[in-house]
Amino acid sequence: VEKENQSSAQEFILLGFPGNQLLQISLSVVFTMTYILAVTGNFAIIAVVIARPHLQTPMYIFLSNLSFLEIWYTTASVPKAIAVFLGKSKTISFVGCILQMYFIFSLGCTEFFLLSVMAYDRYLAICYPLRYSTLMSSTKCTHLTFLCWVSGFLCMSIHNSLVTRLSFCGSNVINNFFCGADSLIFLSCSDISVVKWVGFLMAIIVILGSCLTTLVSYIFIISTILRIPSARGRQKAFSTCSAHLIVVVMWYSSNIFLYIRVYRYSFFDMHKFVNTVNTIVTPLLNPFIYTLRNKEVKEALGK
Ligand SMILES: *[C@@H]1O[C@H](CO)[C@@H](O)[C@H](O)[C@H]1NC(C)=O
Repeated sequence: VEKENQSSAQEFILLGFPGNQLLQISLSVVFTMTYILAVTGNFAIIAVVIARPHLQTPMYIFLSNLSFLEIWYTTASVPKAIAVFLGKSKTISFVGCILQMYFIFSLGCTEFFLLSVMAYDRYLAICYPLRYSTLMSSTKCTHLTFLCWVSGFLCMSIHNSLVTRLSFCGSNVINNFFCGADSLIFLSCSDISVVKWVGFLMAIIVILGSCLTTLVSYIFIISTILRIPSARGRQKAFSTCSAHLIVVVMWYSSNIFLYIRVYRYSFFDMHKFVNTVNTIVTPLLNPFIYTLRNKEVKEALGK
């Protein structure tokens, strides 16, 4: 009986957003345009950092890694979402669903780590300007980036392998536009307490760990900036970290909202809007925030 049940849920249906055909088409158009802009913007950042030797500093290498990550992050969810809105393929196979979930979560973890490493980098640059080049050598920068990617992809693998063991026999309708762990595990008819706890623990470790690193870095950064006597000096120091700060605030606020929602999932469809912010708006805004708030990038892009 169990075998039969399992084989009945080899596919999931992604609901997308409710609404008539016109709304679906408008959504596809908006998602497509935003997606193209986001990918182009992030490619531009990577190209500029590669093309301009004076931008080969840790800060910009981290930034271009972040752009690289954002391209994959948005690519993991948006093209499928557009197909769902257009009604072309509302279904996703079990394996496809698990892979999508794993990619989105691993890239998400990597983003948390990268953002906290970037905060640490700003801390070294602002609090120890004279020793910065030795404290953040290019080897250390490479090691830190490597560590972010590896731990980002390792951290969700236990949780993910637990999800692959769940059996699905009831409803196979996912009320979202991509396969997220939160939507998926609640559809299971197995005991989900272990997988829920592992997910909870990983989220606490990743979110709190990176949040603390970022917060402590910024406490030191701000107290150092406040001690700079001239207003011009303060502004100059702040301008090197303001873009990062905006990106951090956006990323954390949307993720913390999603996370709270998972454990009291009574809000209506608000999570889809926050997911939209996370998967397309943030990847779109990052390059713009960095270009607008950063003279060096602006000049390099102009050239
Ligand atoms: C990411 O960081 C590594 C190591 O610092 C660097 O070699 C690589 O060029 C970066 N990748 C991108 C796409 O910028």
